[in-house]
Amino acid sequence: MAAVLDSVRAFFAQNAFTIDMENPGDVVARENLLDRAMGPERRRKSSEALRRGRVPADGLALVARDPDGHVIGTVRLWNVDAGISRDGSSVPALLLGPLAVDDGHEGKGIGGALMRAAIGEAKKRGHGAILLVGDAPYYERFGFFTDKAAHLVMPGPFERHRFLALELKDGWLEGAAGMLVATGRKLMQAPLKRAA
Ligand SMILES: CC(C)(COP(=O)(O)OP(=O)(O)OC[C@H]1O[C@@H](n2cnc3c(N)ncnc32)[C@H](O)[C@@H]1OP(=O)(O)O)[C@@H](O)C(=O)NCCC(=O)NCCS
Repeated sequence: MAAVLDSVRAFFAQNAFTIDMENPGDVVARENLLDRAMGPERRRKSSEALRRGRVPADGLALVARDPDGHVIGTVRLWNVDAGISRDGSSVPALLLGPLAVDDGHEGKGIGGALMRAAIGEAKKRGHGAILLVGDAPYYERFGFFTDKAAHLVMPGPFERHRFLALELKDGWLEGAAGMLVATGRKLMQAPLKRAA
């Protein structure tokens, strides 16, 4: 009996994870994870143009941690304008990505837990819609489809069938058309050193 309990405990310890807010001490681990999961090409994506030099939307940089606190998954969301609406006003929204899970921990529901936590937090904070560029067969399970993004474009090359949206408020993207524009707060630059 003790051996069975030990193996059950070991199974849960191996598969346990928590979802948490990212903190500054997670940055190196997160970047290493993204390099491993997506390779250096990740920095050339059109989505990156909307993220570069910006901070993520408030409260929307999440990590998954193993029981020792190590980062084993990451997702961040970014403030954008999703084109303009029929009356000419801009349409604030979020761009999700990158989402990645350490390959030693895939298939345990961590990606799904990060997605559900991110969507829930975005809703709680009053956001109207989330857009992303990714594999539809994965993201459709969370309610992301191409139809609501049909009249929007990324600021660079993208594949239309991978450009997906989820409305958090009904009709938020109705009539929205045009290019996504970054609206997030800018990263603080280190002050330039002046020559004496
Ligand atoms: C995609 C990713 C985040 C999924 O993380 P995960 O923790 O393994 O996901 P979950 O455990 O919640 O879900 C696993 C399920 O998603 C499916 N899945 C994973 N990637 C998929 C994809 N690209 N397309 C369709 N289904 C996919 C798995 O087959 C599995 O299906 P099942 O539940 O029917 O067995 C992870 O594989 C990853 O980091 N991949 C590399 C980076 C990447 O591709 N990021 C997303 C950009 S599109």
